[in-house]
Amino acid sequence: MSNFPETRLRRYRRTASIRRMFDMEMPGPARFMWPTFLVEGSNKVEPIASMPGQNRYSIDTLLKALDPIVAQGIGSILLFGVAGSLGKDNDGSSAFAENGTVQQAVRAIKKEFPQLVVATDVCLCAYTTHGHCGPLDEHAQVDNDLALNVLRKVAVSHAHAGADIVAPSAMMDGQIQTIRHFLDTEGHKDTLLMSYSTKFASAFYGPFRDAEGSVPGKGDRQGYQASYREPRQALRESTLDEAEGADILMVKPALFYLDLMRTIRNQSQLPLAAYNVSGEYSMLVATAEKGWGDLRGMVRESTAAMARAGADILISYWANRYKELLHD
Ligand code: PBG
Repeated sequence: MSNFPETRLRRYRRTASIRRMFDMEMPGPARFMWPTFLVEGSNKVEPIASMPGQNRYSIDTLLKALDPIVAQGIGSILLFGVAGSLGKDNDGSSAFAENGTVQQAVRAIKKEFPQLVVATDVCLCAYTTHGHCGPLDEHAQVDNDLALNVLRKVAVSHAHAGADIVAPSAMMDGQIQTIRHFLDTEGHKDTLLMSYSTKFASAFYGPFRDAEGSVPGKGDRQGYQASYREPRQALRESTLDEAEGADILMVKPALFYLDLMRTIRNQSQLPLAAYNVSGEYSMLVATAEKGWGDLRGMVRESTAAMARAGADILISYWANRYKELLHD
């Protein structure tokens, strides 16, 4: 039963200063992780056509780009590499090269910005000739257990370079347990393990694959990434990864999976990351470019939605424009 006319919710909304008393804070910059892309060489800033506002950087230009980002208080970055002149093979073995672009970048960034938390994506799709996230067997299927052997070397090479967080995204069974084991036995017991735990086979990764050159040559990733039509299995992925020793869980993409984010938030005590993916980013950029929506408004509304659903860490391409788009 409504108590109108005594009860009037509009009283709470009468002025900006009253509203401010009740509104939740926008998540602060420390909770943002900026995903960014590396290229080999120097003095390179290559705009990514499908993700306006995002670039591929060589290490030197990335260090320059990080200056204002660190000054805004952004908490962390997530690095994606490319095979470059080390080349691609069936296994993706250039991903664990000691002098790979990611490994060099981690060293350079930790030296220049020791206070910035550095996370690395641990996957093989940018390093395999076929573009899948692990080696293919004779039936052209990704061989799960062979992939583990490569992924754990990649994770250790990143930790060895100084990464604070390694983030396996290949969706191989057992990858968290395997990587934790090798990190621990190879001297990296303090490296955080952020699992891309509930990661869907999504049509919203298109712009990213363009940026990374990681479009699968044949087939798709439905053989390993979770189905958005089987949410219980997708939740089990997070439960299993927690049992395998993940330190941080993730839901990816974010905006179309807020229901599952809330479910995981309620059933786990682990920190939870939301990956606001490339397609979700470019969709808003395109809408704003067409003059059909206000970018700041759309970014803030969607960011608040992820925080409300229970995300602690926001992996977001908006992070490099925090001041302009997210600061109150
Ligand atoms: C690698 C990986 C992908 C993304 C992050 N890590 C692509 C994929 O799984 O195909 C997507 C990120 C984005 O779209 O922003 N496996």
